[in-house]
Amino acid sequence: MMADLHDFLRSRRSIRRFRPDPVPVAVIRRILKTATYAPSAHNNQPWRFAVLTTTETKNQLAEAMAADFRRDLEKEGLPEADIAARLERSRRRIHEAPLVVILCMDAFGTNSYPDPKRQQAEMTMAVQSTSLAGLQLLLAAHAEGLSGVWTCGPLFTPETVRAALDLPAAWQPQAMLFIGYPAESPSIPEHKPLEEVTLFLLSQVTSTPVNFENSR
Ligand SMILES: Cc1cc2nc3c(=O)[nH]c(=O)nc-3n(C[C@H](O)[C@H](O)[C@H](O)COP(=O)(O)O)c2cc1C
Repeated sequence: MMADLHDFLRSRRSIRRFRPDPVPVAVIRRILKTATYAPSAHNNQPWRFAVLTTTETKNQLAEAMAADFRRDLEKEGLPEADIAARLERSRRRIHEAPLVVILCMDAFGTNSYPDPKRQQAEMTMAVQSTSLAGLQLLLAAHAEGLSGVWTCGPLFTPETVRAALDLPAAWQPQAMLFIGYPAESPSIPEHKPLEEVTLFLLSQVTSTPVNFENSR
């Protein structure tokens, strides 16, 4: 059972190609509800979700983001053919995802402190809390046989996203999650060895590396 859960967590993949099948509303509600059980600093629950499934709403978002994206790419001096290709890909990804969730943060309830360092840390905590809800949403989707991918476009153009979807002024777009039934099965990306990303400051006096794999 515990091993199954580890396998489940490790088998989540970023999926970028979806079958056109719509995601039932009951499933959408269930995965969003589960996302809201993520931990959050001060239990502030700063996550907000804008949920898009219709062609019309996706179009509004795709066109608004494409206009900003074009401006950025032109500034970078990219040739027109490359710009057109990248804009087309960006539009296509929004349209091909049966479910698009704009993950936002409302940091309004975040505690305010006169100390700017403390205040900055509180903001970081709100971003971290929102991200945890995003991961929980992807995992809840995975539990439903859905897949998804986290994309960061809205971070570069938050005002445009907010205006295009008429989001509340306090909602700060953080990410765009594409979710649907998978139409690809990419191989597992390489993962850095545990030893590379971990400093084991354990109390045991031992020269044998601790093998957590064996504890499964
Ligand atoms: C903060 C963040 C931003 C990401 N931005 C993008 C993105 O803009 N486009 C994209 O295709 N994938 C994006 N990804 C997905 C990563 O590429 C993916 O998680 C990574 O390659 C590992 O693959 P896996 O999720 O299948 O384990 C993002 C992931 C995170 C956590």
